[in-house]
Amino acid sequence: MLGDFSYSNPTRLYFGENSLDFLSGELSRFGNKIMLVYGNGSIKKSGLYDNVLKILKSNGKEVFEDSGVMPNPTVEKLYEGCKIAKENNVDLILAVGGGSVCDYSKAVSVSAWCEEDPWNKYYLKMEEPNNKIIPVGCILTMVGTGSEMNGGSVITNHETKLKIGHVFGDNVFPKFSILNPILTYTLPKYQMIAGFFDIMSHILEQYFSDFDDNTSDYIMEGLLKSLIHSSQIAVNEPENYEARSNIMWIATWALNTLVAKGKSTDWMVHMIGQSIGAYTDATHGMTLSAVSPAYYRYIMPYGIEKFKRYAVNVWNVKTDGKTDKEIAEDGIRSMEGWMRKIGLVMNIRELGVTDDMLDGIAKGSFIKTGGYKTLNHDEIVDILKASM
Ligand code: NZQ
Ligand code: ZN
Repeated sequence: MLGDFSYSNPTRLYFGENSLDFLSGELSRFGNKIMLVYGNGSIKKSGLYDNVLKILKSNGKEVFEDSGVMPNPTVEKLYEGCKIAKENNVDLILAVGGGSVCDYSKAVSVSAWCEEDPWNKYYLKMEEPNNKIIPVGCILTMVGTGSEMNGGSVITNHETKLKIGHVFGDNVFPKFSILNPILTYTLPKYQMIAGFFDIMSHILEQYFSDFDDNTSDYIMEGLLKSLIHSSQIAVNEPENYEARSNIMWIATWALNTLVAKGKSTDWMVHMIGQSIGAYTDATHGMTLSAVSPAYYRYIMPYGIEKFKRYAVNVWNVKTDGKTDKEIAEDGIRSMEGWMRKIGLVMNIRELGVTDDMLDGIAKGSFIKTGGYKTLNHDEIVDILKASM
């Protein structure tokens, strides 16, 4: 394992069918004013809203609601949330929803007391908070982003066509997260499988970097195998607790900083996917699935050893009589087979991308240098064309 690092993850997790029982205990650690953040109504439909409100009231909390957090939360919504948080001087932001609700809550937490424009400070200039940070707690209803145990917060600015993520430090991680796999049963299939690919992509973004022998790669191969296994069960039996709980746990470990340790990490699929999101507002996981096969085929020659290892260790590709290139290609083909089987979107046209957008999407894709190949603008356009 090469590279020095520090590691700390301050988020306390409560996992399982009865995990909501632990909310009262957590609430006692914070003041009385709770900002309850949620999306567009799924939690009302499922009854979770009533349950959470009952717990908040029975603990004597004063509740300030902030609803209507959209998938891919916008900068305008962020300004709205900051106003509610600041005017009411809230003590805790309780996020009840998916990655968008959790990400948005973290953005409000660092922005409410920020003197500058938060979009400018945190997303364009990538500065760290130097003002009061309001603590965040999460009750997760959609699996995929890992937002429940990381510092990631992605905000979209439709006016400038930029979707940008800031990965904050552990002072911004949720103080606690409640993970009940049963709360994810009501997800529509499209969202469920998009989350599955988001998990896959988070792991691959970290796996496909460096060539040294690193324990993180072995952990990731285990996570990938478990994901491939459980995802196929969950697609046929959405209420299979064993499969859904495994997937929930894999998602958390795929992006809670652990498996990135000692690795340079790639993240180009996410950079391209986020730019597609800025243009189309498409579902995050689908923006990743639609470009991944073309992206990985393109960079494969630059990391052939690792792609071969991926094929053999994750997809059980047989090596007899094959060249390294053939083995590596079989790995990508196996991944594509799994993607089609679970029903993912395999091209960006289906997400609303048109030919005239390609140049702008490539321009909005921030270039990262930690993967096997540093891309230039034209190469991104070629990958997008191959994904149409
Ligand atoms: O708004 P509601 O009504 O709640 O509906 C949501 C939303 O329409 C629905 N949903 C969530 N839980 C449900 C449910 N519907 C029925 N039953 C449930 N139990 O699902 C839809 C999508 O939710 P959303 O939160 O947008 O999905 P996801 O968790 O994929 O989050 C996506 C956002 O996270 C960012 C993405 O860019 C995107 O903005 N990411 C955050 C990361 C991080 N924090 O580290 C990393 C990721 O790579 C990602 O970029
Ligand atoms: Zn993602």
